[in-house]
Amino acid sequence: MMEKQTLSEPTTAHRLHCIGCGAEIAGAEAAEDFRCRECGNLFEVDYPELLVRTSSRDSNSPTLAANNAARMGHPADAGSAEKNRPELWKEVWNRRRLSREALDRSGVWRFRELLPFMADERNVVTLEEGNTPLYHLPRCGKSVGVEQLFAKHQGMNPTGSFKDTGMTAALSVAHERGFEWVACASTGNTSASMAAYAARAGMRSLVLIPEGKVAWGKLSQSLDYGAVTCQLKTDFDGCVSVLAELVRRAPVYLLNSVNPYRLEGQKTAAIELAEALDWQVPDHLIVPGGNLANSSALGKGFLELQALGLIDRLPRISVIQAEGANPLFLSWTQHRGKEFSPVEAHTRASAIRIGNPASWKKAVGILESTGGWCEQVSEQEIALAKAEIGAEGIGCEPASAVTLAGLKKLAAQGHVGKQETVVLLLTGHTLKDPEYTIDFHQGKLLTAQETAAMDPDQRKQMEALASAPQVLEPTAEAVMRVLDAAVQDRSEQDRARRG
Ligand code: F0G
Repeated sequence: MMEKQTLSEPTTAHRLHCIGCGAEIAGAEAAEDFRCRECGNLFEVDYPELLVRTSSRDSNSPTLAANNAARMGHPADAGSAEKNRPELWKEVWNRRRLSREALDRSGVWRFRELLPFMADERNVVTLEEGNTPLYHLPRCGKSVGVEQLFAKHQGMNPTGSFKDTGMTAALSVAHERGFEWVACASTGNTSASMAAYAARAGMRSLVLIPEGKVAWGKLSQSLDYGAVTCQLKTDFDGCVSVLAELVRRAPVYLLNSVNPYRLEGQKTAAIELAEALDWQVPDHLIVPGGNLANSSALGKGFLELQALGLIDRLPRISVIQAEGANPLFLSWTQHRGKEFSPVEAHTRASAIRIGNPASWKKAVGILESTGGWCEQVSEQEIALAKAEIGAEGIGCEPASAVTLAGLKKLAAQGHVGKQETVVLLLTGHTLKDPEYTIDFHQGKLLTAQETAAMDPDQRKQMEALASAPQVLEPTAEAVMRVLDAAVQDRSEQDRARRG
């Protein structure tokens, strides 16, 4: 039988702030399920020495102001108080990329001035995550009518998803506080990431995933990194319920995104994005929505940069859901986020097959404070968008492709102008779910009914993108015939495009 541990709280410059009742507690005072004991809402990490909250009650729309940032005891390599001024951090953060130290090379920890929650940096567990590329998408941009369209590809992280940036943060806290076991319920990416970071730290991990509903790439990672992997005969939301009971009964540290330290790591993608655009922010950032934590993590990142004077405005942050897993879309369009009802979730984008997202209030707060929108997209729209991103030589998993599909809708509604700079947040690598891609190219992904429901233009576009592998006799003639046909096809498509 596992014993409950008594944990000591390291002295760090952070507090946890309840987004519902505004209660402030120390990090180690959080309940095992990270819900407020007073009102049941989630927490956010605050840094009173760095940033103060100027509207503590109405915390759905956080307003932050910089405190005396020069009092921060960081960065170690900068020395004088002069070097601690936020303007100078930009230079320090950039310079760290050339360092040989793992902490500096991490695209999360090189921004550690904005993550002062570890008592001792030697407890950090890192796989040198982050520092992900920002790619220009000229062809997708042209087809949507947005010239400056970019993809911030968080799938280019060590385990192939954005989860690594949050995992290095929250698992480091578990490590520092002396936990042996960590656990999560997952649609596959959180579990892959948790298993890898736990293994790096020499810790044990417990994974709860819905049986038969996790892409193979992700399941294989959890096994490869040595997690105790339980496939429960339920969906993601059912796994979350089982885990909520488990964390009360066993000394396992919960690493789902209700853990506020996850979001601290994930917010660094916002800092990287601002840095990559020379501290100008894009007009619009488009994010997939599942459990709805990542949109608010990015929003928190931008709000903090603004409060510190490192950027002078916020991007709109819009959240896109799959039609079959759309509780935020329903809540936003019907009740402006004031009421929320879970749904039973169905979508082939298995990463976001979530009907009862834990962080919906945080996501509503970010839609409100940045002026973003929430949209939903169909299975056909997701499949087409994924193939278009693939055809740019970039690729992503289906859940990430909702961003491009959503952008098309927002542009058609007039919410996105031709001159705007738009960034799609691609959350997972294309190799996470190769079965989806192969089914698409073999014409087996969509049902006949789904195909029939598409408009003719959409169907034509899809046919032009799909390219099934061909089995041939091993002769040059056979391959020449295929090559000739492909050349012919392409010239016909080009002629049709030119009209
Ligand atoms: N994209 C991918 C590839 C994901 O894996 C997830 C979530 C999301 C988007 C949605 O992010 O939950 O912050 O709104 N995956 C979780 C998991 C739930 O268990 O891997 P969110």
